[in-house]
Amino acid sequence: MSAKVIVVTNQKGGCGKTTLAINLSGALGRTHKVLLVDGDPQGSASRWVASADDNVPFPSAIMNLSHVTEKVGREIKKYLIDYEYIFVDCPPAIDNKFTSSALMIADLAIVPVIPSPTDLWSAVGIQQLISNVSEINDSLQARLLANMCQTNTSISKEALSLISEFDFPKFETDIYQRTAYRQAAAFGGTVFNLDNSKAKQEITSLINEITNLLQ
Ligand SMILES: Nc1ncnc2c1ncn2[C@@H]1O[C@H](COP(=O)(O)OP(=O)(O)O)[C@@H](O)[C@H]1O
Ligand SMILES: [Mg+2]
Repeated sequence: MSAKVIVVTNQKGGCGKTTLAINLSGALGRTHKVLLVDGDPQGSASRWVASADDNVPFPSAIMNLSHVTEKVGREIKKYLIDYEYIFVDCPPAIDNKFTSSALMIADLAIVPVIPSPTDLWSAVGIQQLISNVSEINDSLQARLLANMCQTNTSISKEALSLISEFDFPKFETDIYQRTAYRQAAAFGGTVFNLDNSKAKQEITSLINEITNLLQ
């Protein structure tokens, strides 16, 4: 067994990195051996997992490696044989040492973006970092992920045209703005502990895309 490493990153805070890293690792963790690496010094993913009830423990393992900074890739390598998937929730950092180190050993980078022009402009920095790392790590794939889409409006033409200018494509699955994602945080679980079937469908469909990409 050698784990596939999936890094969730964007230097912008608030675009949904932690929410997506938690829901993906928690959902896959129900059927696979999954580790979630918390890379945020504020430990938001760790707190999320810690708030789970003892009767409903979070399905994947969690470890905070934020203080390992530029050595995080080397540290994660130690766990490759123990897991099938390792997700990394990156800090919202201009200090890219943690993120670039994780990307060096990653199979997939997921870049969540709120599909608005300003949010897309601010993802240019992470695109540059990913393309620099890809020159060294040639197994690295990357995808944008539209998060917090509005239910009654499709992604605007301006946003779609900005998305098409990126070096890497967008996932077909879009994640909509839903209270289930906020509620899941409150009790330390994932949308699979709630009965919002649309949120569950989105995460299931995203996991299918991810596992297909990593085959
Ligand atoms: N798809 C979504 N629907 C509703 N709320 C969301 C969604 N994704 C993220 N959020 C909320 O947005 C805020 C920022 O998300 P978070 O995952 O902490 O972002 P980041 O880790 O990138 O800073 C949180 O309050 C979270 O609950
Ligand atoms: Mg976060």
